Amino acid sequence: MTDKMPVNPLLEGLASRAMPEPCSVVIFGATGDLTHRKLVPALYNLAADGDLPPGLSLVGFARRDKTDEVFRNELEEAARKYSRQAINDELWKNFASAICYHRSEFGELEGYHLLRERLHQLDKDRGTRGNRLYYLSAGPDQFENILTNLKDAGLADTAAAGWARVIVEKPFGTDLATARHLNEVVHKCFDEECTFRIDHFLGKETAQNIMVLRFANSLFEHLWNERYIDHVQITASEQLGIENRAGYYEGAGALRDMVQNHLLQLLTLIAMEPPTDLSADSIRDEKVKVLRSMRRIARQEVARSVVRGQYGAGSINGKAVGGYREEKNVKPESMTETYVALRLLVDNWRWANVPFYIRVGKRLPKGGTEIGIHFRNAPDVLFNRDQSGLRDGSQNVLVIRIQPDEGVSLRMQSKVPGASVRIQPVKMDFRYGTSFGKASPEAYERLLLDAMAGDATLFARRDEVEEAWKFIDDIEEGWHSEGNKSGLFFYPAGSWGPAEADQLIENDGRAWRRL
Ligand code: BG6
Repeated sequence: MTDKMPVNPLLEGLASRAMPEPCSVVIFGATGDLTHRKLVPALYNLAADGDLPPGLSLVGFARRDKTDEVFRNELEEAARKYSRQAINDELWKNFASAICYHRSEFGELEGYHLLRERLHQLDKDRGTRGNRLYYLSAGPDQFENILTNLKDAGLADTAAAGWARVIVEKPFGTDLATARHLNEVVHKCFDEECTFRIDHFLGKETAQNIMVLRFANSLFEHLWNERYIDHVQITASEQLGIENRAGYYEGAGALRDMVQNHLLQLLTLIAMEPPTDLSADSIRDEKVKVLRSMRRIARQEVARSVVRGQYGAGSINGKAVGGYREEKNVKPESMTETYVALRLLVDNWRWANVPFYIRVGKRLPKGGTEIGIHFRNAPDVLFNRDQSGLRDGSQNVLVIRIQPDEGVSLRMQSKVPGASVRIQPVKMDFRYGTSFGKASPEAYERLLLDAMAGDATLFARRDEVEEAWKFIDDIEEGWHSEGNKSGLFFYPAGSWGPAEADQLIENDGRAWRRL
């Protein structure tokens, strides 16, 4: 008899899973940036790694007139530019044979009837068995049109044959009311199990590692609470400006664009309780509890807890760049924020009085996303008694680097070699690149594959999205209510944001981590 190693029940679900069933992926808004930069390169890389089901077909649905051939050529050009792995000609040829283009207005039912015929034909030709994955990557003003027409054309119906699922790109609403409305529209056509609200940060390798780090190691979880953790910092810093996205960004701003979704999602992974198992709903039940425990920031508190900023002209990597108000299609008097720093509390047993500081901005000196878990100081005795500056930077900090250079590092104190006792912080560093010797897949690869397999773990559930909006709406209202004192602060491009953001954390006797 052989002794079997006991299986860690939390890890059971992480075992590699079977290949998803063949299906047709229909991208609405297929001529847009997302298809070119992310979706098609992701699908190609999955194909190159042998992860795609044979027979998969890709249908681009958009308004512009073009042939299959032209569409394929455009996608090839984009894939050569943006793919993680170099394009292999033979492989591309094979992959491209699965691609076709369907021209239609989003609001014309007729176009959906024709789509249905096309999909039936693909079922016959490629063996896709009536399985459909719809990807809503068109402008959000078209979501309702697309969903309603899918339903009216019988394309959302899973009763007949195969399955039908929908991936909804962000933005998922612009506030609680619009998100609720969109959820209602979605659910007239698709059940929650068939709805995949994408948040690409959840597909990033290090974000997925947060639960493993916490629940597959015995070291951290005992310390993961208000007794040992002083505070948490979550930073997403970008060098890029808004590129050509003023049309969207002017109405969104950094709070809606990044905090409502990506950063609050990271926060829930850090703050959640261990789920009872690894099913999508057990995990999301825990995440939603965190969102519900977040202390809402009352309108009159907003100026004290949240700082918003906008970049002015400055320089990035020694190159002069213009200010936000000078960007194409941005109003010269725009009040849209490109930077947010905020302080929030999670009012539950584990996190009582532990501040979470969130900071996000465009046109900052360095790009990077990380989470810093700052532990409480060791007692003020022995090596820590000296007040000569030793305490500076003496906290243990566990840094989870989401990007770039994904990894985890732990800062601790060490004696400097030599006869005298001098102490200096040092870093224990784990890097994915070095430890696993290969590049991590792109977030969209993992997420597309999960949606094909029907696994919603890394997608936001209805209640998560709505809870997050409640928190964000209070801040937006605080900013835009009459007589509010929370102004917009300017920072030069290439700086770390407005001085008021430093003040926000310094008022609590803490400082932002340097990236
Ligand atoms: C998107 C935002 O969701 O995320 C962008 O709309 C932002 O404004 C981007 O630049 C950041 O994602 P990543 O993966 O490049 O860090």
